[in-house]
Amino acid sequence: MAIKSLLPRIKTKLPGPKAKQVLAGDRKFVSPSYTRPYPLVMKRGRGAMVEDVDGNTFLDFSAGIAVCSTGHAHPEIVAAIQKQAADFIHMSGTDFYYPQMVELAQKLADSVPGKAPRKVYFGNSGAEAIEAAMKVARFHTKRDKFIAFYGAFHGRTFGALSLTASRVTQRRGFSPLVPGVTHIPYGYCYRCPYNLTPQTCSIDCGTFLRDVVFKTTVPPEEVAAIFVEPILGEGGYVIPPVEFLQELKSICEDYGILFVADEVQSGMGRTGKMWAIEHFGIEPDILCTAKGLASGMPIGVMIARSDLMNWPPGAHASTFGGNPVSCAAALATIKLLEEQYTENAARIGKYILEKISDWPRTHPLVGEVRGLGLMVAIELVRDKNTRVKAHEERDQVLQEAFKRGLLILGCGENVVRLMPPLLIDQRQADVAVEILEEVLTRTERR
Ligand SMILES: Cc1ncc(COP(=O)(O)O)c(C=O)c1O
Repeated sequence: MAIKSLLPRIKTKLPGPKAKQVLAGDRKFVSPSYTRPYPLVMKRGRGAMVEDVDGNTFLDFSAGIAVCSTGHAHPEIVAAIQKQAADFIHMSGTDFYYPQMVELAQKLADSVPGKAPRKVYFGNSGAEAIEAAMKVARFHTKRDKFIAFYGAFHGRTFGALSLTASRVTQRRGFSPLVPGVTHIPYGYCYRCPYNLTPQTCSIDCGTFLRDVVFKTTVPPEEVAAIFVEPILGEGGYVIPPVEFLQELKSICEDYGILFVADEVQSGMGRTGKMWAIEHFGIEPDILCTAKGLASGMPIGVMIARSDLMNWPPGAHASTFGGNPVSCAAALATIKLLEEQYTENAARIGKYILEKISDWPRTHPLVGEVRGLGLMVAIELVRDKNTRVKAHEERDQVLQEAFKRGLLILGCGENVVRLMPPLLIDQRQADVAVEILEEVLTRTERR
């Protein structure tokens, strides 16, 4: 594998000539529903480096949307995939058995905080994990309603989309969605939905559900589950106050509602612990994850307390769910995370956050920086007092970073997110921060 440089090197105009050919084919044959912020056409990757079809190399702080947790083509992941593929590629865990599925289920069941025994449902994506959680929650509780949050992203299948409240484009034209979902504001201190300050805050974001929603519009005894991202992902990498999630958990306990942690993005070591929910001291009833679980192989899992899984054979399943090659990649991923990468995510994430901590003071465009592990956000505003969202400026930052060889993505309307593979080293963190700082300064001068 020939990506020699550990740092970015741009040799052609972007997009280069070979990339342009691919883009032309894409325009003609691929669904226009995808959202590409800039024209990266990938040829190969190794670690945190990506080479495009024209030989340009990039430092990848996107990890294929937080998926390539162990970097691109990690030799241990590649070996696990190759070995499994040579033995057998598919047999369908819905109708037959294989040890890899059981081994992974046990690893995942044991990893979720809490003493209660757990069982695992296997699907192929984050949305499928969420669909499974919605179905098991309805089936088990015999209740039909759900609570979710403004800004949340849970996927685009009909059930998951009904919980999603991230962008109206994702919903426009697709109604009717699954009925029974009520959205409430998330605990977003920088943009407190109740206009409170740390001095006046009494965690109204947490108590709103109990004190307002359950007294006015939604009978709590009809609610099957609350779906919540411990850290809002697509909605802006928002880290809520600990009390917000704890209050939700306490509401769940009071009314027999299931607490579902959507860790599709925040899970698998990204925040410096295996699960983000561990930072909040909460034992979820159900935990969903996908993205980083198998370093890029498709898989999505719903891990629930065993007593909740009282659905009978045939109630829910998927032909490809828990594919043996994906299971082998997931087992190899977990090994690497446990050995070194989760700890590395905590260390390098802290290092990056410290390096950029003064940006809200030194950069006119930066309203807030926040992060946990390698889930880091830079929120851009046009005015520090009014906090008007700097949407176009954010998009410019993504494009300018691309031109300098740094791959980053946005989230929310005005947030730059850093979600590199969990193996990045300090030098790569320094380079990413240098490029970002240069790009920010240039965007501010415009
Ligand atoms: C928190 C969260 N849940 C669910 C999903 C949906 O996952 P997928 O795109 O694999 O269906 C995503 C995807 O971004 C996500 O971030």
